[in-house]
Order: sequence, then structure tokens, then C-alpha cells
Amino acid sequence: MESANSIFEKLWQAYTTSNLSVLKVYNSFTIIGEQVLNDHVAFRTFNDPRMNIKVIEKPFISAGYVEKGEYVFEAKKLIAKHYEIPNDSSMPRVFISELILEEFSKEFQNLIAERMNSVKNTVYSDNNLIYKGSIWEKPSFKIYNRLREESEYGAWLYVFGFCANHFTVSINSLKKLNTIEKVNQHIKDNGFTLNASGGEIKGTKEELLQQSSIMAENIMVDFKEGNFEIPGCYYEFAIRYANKDGNIYSGFLAKSADKIFESTNYYKK
Ligand code: NI
Repeated sequence: MESANSIFEKLWQAYTTSNLSVLKVYNSFTIIGEQVLNDHVAFRTFNDPRMNIKVIEKPFISAGYVEKGEYVFEAKKLIAKHYEIPNDSSMPRVFISELILEEFSKEFQNLIAERMNSVKNTVYSDNNLIYKGSIWEKPSFKIYNRLREESEYGAWLYVFGFCANHFTVSINSLKKLNTIEKVNQHIKDNGFTLNASGGEIKGTKEELLQQSSIMAENIMVDFKEGNFEIPGCYYEFAIRYANKDGNIYSGFLAKSADKIFESTNYYKK
């Protein structure tokens, strides 16, 4: 069994190596003396039994995580679950979503099935699956764009496969930048673009959770047709508030997450 700390260390390594902007954001906090803790770490997958939520959750369940909440995103055709380690608020929550393939066109489903079928089932049952990135052959830029017509999420996953889609800075753990407004200003002052879909701040104090995120940086990907820049991973920021009983809210807001998903939407610079 692998410890939760070791899992996150490996995921962080891969995440910051492939997405230099997230490391720059992280450093922009530490350089002013902030200690960065993670609110949650998120994964994307397809609902195929070879790689669905049940498969991605395995290393986390082994490391002591338990399922805490379930969410439905009707417009994006996704469901998600979140996990926590009981009585250990220092460890990040884990958020895993899966795309419901049956709700897409036959062509979309066939393109994904073809890609999934291109490797043996043993590749999916490997204990190290969540660190492997793309386990498939070189992606096609044409197919990436075809998938985007139906789901930006599906297109992103077609290219990047298994990795942390984002880490999330817990604003509750910051000393100076202790509000989401201050964090957003800090991020913009450092030259990063915030996801403005539905406003820069998703959620309200009354809803007990506020979130924001940078737009994923465009990174160069080696496609069959050549090299093209597409959005990679992004970094998120979250602040949680206590309810009437004084307990910090620990769940997620589907309405807010729905907009945050758009942080990997393709955009022209
Ligand atoms: Ni998130």
C-alpha cells in the first residue's frame, strides 16, 4: 500500500513538470512566505469499467480515503465523487469525475472506444495507472477537435489520460492572502489569466465554498499531424467557511464546479 503523501508527491511531480505555469503560481505564494496546503486534488476519467471512478479511487481507498459526496453535472454529462481521510483535515480531499459516454454520439463513443481498446486490460489494472498520463498511442489533432465539438472534457482526457487535472490551494491555510479576492488579485498581478466563466469567483460565502482558477496554460503536444498547443492542467484556489454549528463545509458545489471544468477549454491566445 502506498501512503497518501507519497501518492500526492508523485502526482505533484508529474503535474508541475508538464505544466510550468502551475509551478510558477505555487512559487508566487511561497516567495512571499505563504505555506501552501491543498484543498483538493482532482481527476478526470471515462465511465468505462476499465478506467471509471471505481478504478481511479483504488489507491486512495487503500491509503485510507472514504467516499463523502456524490455530484451530478447534467449539462456536461458527468458525475463525480469526493473522498476524505476521516479525522485528518491536513490531507487534501480527492475529487474524481467521469464522463458518461452513453450520452454522446455514436461517433464520439467509437473514437473513445477505439483509443481505449488500443491497449490491453492489464494496462488499466496496473497499480500505477493514475501516474501514467496517456497510455495510448500519439493522439490525432483532428480527433481532438472532433471530440471538442461534443465535450471539451472528453477531448482533454483523450490527449492527457491519467494525471492530476488540478491541485487546489487551500486559501484557509494562507496567512496574508487570506481572502479569495486577495488571491485573485495576486494571481492577476503575477500575469496569469483567471477563468471568468460565470464570474471570477464561483460560489458565495452563504454557500460556504468559494473557488477560482487560472485558465490552463497552452502546452505543446506531439500529435500525429504535428505539434500543436492545447490547454493542459490548471491550478485552483478554494476557501471554505463554517456553517451555523461552526463546522467548516467540506463538500463541493456542482454549480461552481461546472464552470471550473471549463478551465481546460481550448482558446486562442
Ligand atoms: Ni477543483
